[in-house]
Parts: sequence; C-alpha cells; structure tokens
Amino acid sequence: MTVGPLLWTRAKRVRRRAAGQGPSACVRAWGKSMAGSELTNVRSPRVKAARRLTKRAFREQDRRFLAEGPQAVREALKLDGVTLELFSTAEAELRHPELITEATLKGIPVHRASGEVMSELSQTVTPQGLVAVCGLVHVPLEQAMAGTPRLVALLAHVRDPGNAGTVMRAADAAGADTVIFTDASVDPYNGKCVRASAGSLFHLPVVIGAPVGAAARHLKERGLRVLAADGTGKRTLDDVDLSGPTAWIFGNEAWGLPEEILAEADDVVRVPIYGQAESLNLATAAAVCLYSSARAQRVP
Ligand SMILES: C[S@@+](CC[C@H](N)C(=O)[O-])C[C@H]1O[C@@H](n2cnc3c(N)ncnc32)[C@H](O)[C@@H]1O
Repeated sequence: MTVGPLLWTRAKRVRRRAAGQGPSACVRAWGKSMAGSELTNVRSPRVKAARRLTKRAFREQDRRFLAEGPQAVREALKLDGVTLELFSTAEAELRHPELITEATLKGIPVHRASGEVMSELSQTVTPQGLVAVCGLVHVPLEQAMAGTPRLVALLAHVRDPGNAGTVMRAADAAGADTVIFTDASVDPYNGKCVRASAGSLFHLPVVIGAPVGAAARHLKERGLRVLAADGTGKRTLDDVDLSGPTAWIFGNEAWGLPEEILAEADDVVRVPIYGQAESLNLATAAAVCLYSSARAQRVP
C-alpha cells in the first residue's frame, strides 16, 4: 500500500493524541492508527525501493542504505536527518516502543511491515523486525581530519564486511577520531558491516574511497605518525612510543599489506605472536593496536 501523505497526517494525529502522555501512549496511538494499513506486498514500490539498497550499486545511486536492528536504528535516530524512514513489524513496535515514539516525534515515516516484507528487507537469518532507511553518513577526508585528530584507523583494501564493521566498533571504543576505508575496500554501508559496527558507523567520521598513498600523506601532513600493522615488522608494539597522534594502517585479510603500502608508513609494527598462530585476525590486530595507542595516549 502507499502511505505517503496519509502517513504524515497520521503521524501528526498520533503526536497530537499522545502529546504529554508518554511513549507507550504514543505507540498505542500509533498501533491503532496503523491497524489495517500494514505493508504486506513484497512487490510494492516502497518495499522494492528499500530492498534494492541491499546492493552496493543502488546504495551509491540512491545515496541511501539500510540499518537493521534496534541498536543500529537507535544510533541512527540520534543523528538529526539521517533516518529517512523506518520499517517495523507489530512485534518490534511492542518490543521497542521508544524507537517508534522517537521516530514518530521526529516526523520520520514509520511503516508497519508484515513478517514477509520484513524478511524481504532483512539481511539476517533471524530478522529483528526493525529496518531504517538512512542517508549516507561518510565525510570527505579533509573534513574528517579537521581539528586535532589523535587516533585514526586506515583500512587498506580490506574486503570482509564483518571485519571492517568490527574495526569500526573497536576504533569507536578506543576513542579513535576517524576510520578511513581506502579505495577497493568493502563498502561500510554493506548490511553485514553496518551490523558488525553495532552503531559505531553513526558515532565517528568515516571516510570512503581514499587512495592509500594520498591518505597516508594527508595523515602525515596533519601531524600523525603513520604506522603499518604487519606481522613482519621489525619493531613490536612494546618497542614503539605510541603516546603521540597515530594513524594505523591495517591490511587485507588474505595478502596483508604489500611493499608499496609498507613504504608509505613511518614504521612497520608487529603485534608479537607468542604461540603458534601465523597471524592475528585483522579485527583482532586492529583492536590490540588501537587500544595500545589509546592507553599510551591516556597515561599521564
Ligand atoms: C589476517 S592479516 C593478513 C595475513 C597475511 N597472511 C599477511 O601476509 O599479512 C590481516 C591484517 O591484520 C593485521 N595483522 C595480523 N596479524 C598481525 C600481527 N601479528 N601484527 C600486526 N598486524 C597484524 C595486519 O594489518 C594484516 O595486514
């Protein structure tokens, strides 16, 4: 069904009815107003327009992406103007009334979706019943590096969305200022990447498509020491002073960092391997390096 202007009128009415009565009144009023207007047709234009955002080419074309699950939706809603519409099942409305209320109060169209429609939009085996359509949030490198950045993660040709999202989450937790995805890296708006970031995509500036060399030079010009994390490094984490502004380069899951990228770095640093593992998983190595920097930068 099509709910454009009708939905806006309804949202206004819900806001009026629930004014001053708290979130549950708002959700009750919303539920009542939505009865009988559930999106059930997976071929409806609205569902198709959202569904196509599961493909990178369409995300780039429409400049939108999907954020799935309550955590991602909650964080997206905190950023003004990012959430453009929200799909929710009746069950999810009951489980997360505060999110429906927040979206409604912000004037964001909320569409009640059947389980079948939600399965169409969801990219998980067990959909959680909430999918937000969001505008892209990445920023140009210069904007991300404005101010006095002290900790940056640069993903060089990283391909696995789960790894990349986990690095964003670790970088956010370690208090990093920016995460840079170089060209030929995974799309941070990939559904798996958004999920793995657990909301961190909405917390810190993300740059996409930067060539490694140009990004490394820009970081140096901004006064950061550029360190390549690589198992072949002559120096270990314990041998380097990490107290100053630092950018870490992390490499591809299969082939690591090639010579020409290592050459861009001020130093090549390895996380010592005490056991028999050949290397660390990329996201694990990133968490160790970023936290080592964060701790060194915080020691009085
Ligand atoms: C799975 S590893 C790549 C392993 C690959 N066989 C190689 O030749 O480097 C992916 C990335 O994780 C980081 N990494 C993994 N183990 C590391 C270690 N011991 N020290 C520093 N960085 C490491 C590096 O940035 C590396 O490029």
